[in-house]
Amino acid sequence: MSRKKTILDIQKMKVDGEKIAMLTCYDYPTARIMDACGVDVILIGDSAGVVVAGYENTLPVTMDEMLYHTRAVMRANPKALVAADMPFMSYQIDIADARRNAGRMLKEGGAAAVKIEGGVNIAPVIAALVEIDIPVVAHIGLTPQSIHRMGGYKVQGKKGEQAERILEDAVAVQNAGAFAVVLEGIPQGLAARITETLTIPTIGIGAGAGCDGQVLVIHDILGLCEKYSPKFVKRYADAAALISGAVTSYISEV
Ligand code: KIV
Repeated sequence: MSRKKTILDIQKMKVDGEKIAMLTCYDYPTARIMDACGVDVILIGDSAGVVVAGYENTLPVTMDEMLYHTRAVMRANPKALVAADMPFMSYQIDIADARRNAGRMLKEGGAAAVKIEGGVNIAPVIAALVEIDIPVVAHIGLTPQSIHRMGGYKVQGKKGEQAERILEDAVAVQNAGAFAVVLEGIPQGLAARITETLTIPTIGIGAGAGCDGQVLVIHDILGLCEKYSPKFVKRYADAAALISGAVTSYISEV
């Protein structure tokens, strides 16, 4: 496709049974490379805080940090649809604050959509953003910004009642107007059931192959951030070894 992808293109992929490939990205050179490869959606994830900035979790990430990464990615002029993560406490306080901050991601960052974590509890925020023409990707299941409530990065929805609640979250974010939903860290049977129930695309991470698409953190698939890499991630390259070899050769030649 020679033009930029839109949320309608991504939604049509579900209708056509085409899988959606989403990857995180935080910088200009990586955005150029992955866009040339034809990735469908680029997510400027708040995982940037962990894999780029070295924070312990995503909670310290600020709006300014997310805007910095979003602008860097947008300078690559990607054809992929670009969604930017709303960091912790940028959308939870009240609707006015959520609208102001989400608006900055489009106006100052240049993203086409935002992603926010939460289900039934956050559906009114999703509706308020969609109402002012800010497309939203929802994110349910294992939501990393809820690490303290969850007591760690644990698979969610393993028990019947918990699974039903996640299904309710999925329906609530769709009804609120989200154009897609990330399903993170839930059993594959539950993810497949949600995918069949919803009309919007589901993008899985640690949720099995039954979703409409998949998303992974670029540093994980490149083998660049071993400390935090989850077990389900397939590593497609060993970039840490590549960098180490190049730097060692440079040092010895100097
Ligand atoms: O921040 C992030 O990178 C994410 C994806 C892993 C879905 O939320």
